Amino acid sequence: MGTTLITGAYGQVGQELIPILTRKFGMDRVVLADIVKAPEKFSKYSNHNLDVTDREKLEKLMSDHDVEYIFHLAAILSASGEKNPGKAFLTNAIGTHNILEAARELSVKRVMIPSTIGVFSRETPRRNVPVNTVMKPRTMYGITKVTGEMLGNYYFQKFGLDVRGLRFPGLISYTAPPGGGTTDYSVEMFHYAVRREKYSCYIARDTVLPMMYMPDAMGAMMALFDADLQRLRFHSDYNISAFSFSPAELEAAIRKRIPDFTVTYAPDYRQEIAEEWPETIDSSEAARDWGFRAEYSMDSMVDDMLLNLGGVRR
Ligand code: SER
Repeated sequence: MGTTLITGAYGQVGQELIPILTRKFGMDRVVLADIVKAPEKFSKYSNHNLDVTDREKLEKLMSDHDVEYIFHLAAILSASGEKNPGKAFLTNAIGTHNILEAARELSVKRVMIPSTIGVFSRETPRRNVPVNTVMKPRTMYGITKVTGEMLGNYYFQKFGLDVRGLRFPGLISYTAPPGGGTTDYSVEMFHYAVRREKYSCYIARDTVLPMMYMPDAMGAMMALFDADLQRLRFHSDYNISAFSFSPAELEAAIRKRIPDFTVTYAPDYRQEIAEEWPETIDSSEAARDWGFRAEYSMDSMVDDMLLNLGGVRR
């Protein structure tokens, strides 16, 4: 039996996925790679410094460890991507192509590549967006992630490589911080609230975006990973959704539990990115093909976040 490689392993999603894959496959069969240094808590794993744009190093790592499955999480998110679009292109587009090529050459069994609501744009319907819709992203993140989706579908059709992906909404979690996304404000707001500090939000108070609590995102990723290939009518581009809210709605939900919490609003360049994205997503294809279902409501997510971050009980 081979190993499972996680790229971008120490990011917000990777740090949550590591224990899940460890329970599934065992620690000695999980290989971690990232461009940043491994946090101390993962020191017992097989840790590797890897820039996914370095194809040679990637292929050597994969063949040295007999990689069977890949969770390709390495990516530059939307806000960071606008600060350095060239780097975002290389990491997201070339990096993903490298992963797919290496996976094809080395006969990897399955490649998971998360996508994002960042593939959508102002031409997309605002509400209840279906899987197949108009996508003309204007951020380098969106452009490269839609490219990744199309490449994934291409590698499946042309080479029979089992590539699977789902479009994550903004992900809320308390373990590792998000890095460089437009929806990061939601996580930041919780951290300020539990420290009893005032928060200045860079997204306008009434901009509604799709969001999801991390346990549901991980449940979805593993359900898609385990799904019967024959039942999949899509491959790299499943929509998933849980709830949607605006910054003002999140502020109000937190204030119900921490009455003196206050937020001021000072939208910056990230507001323009947020305005490209729809408010709600239709996840019925994921429900039909592989049983997707989100367990957490906005309310139960807020309760759980505050409990875990600051011991705040309702
Ligand atoms: N959370 C991501 C971002 O804001 C969206 O996928 O960039």
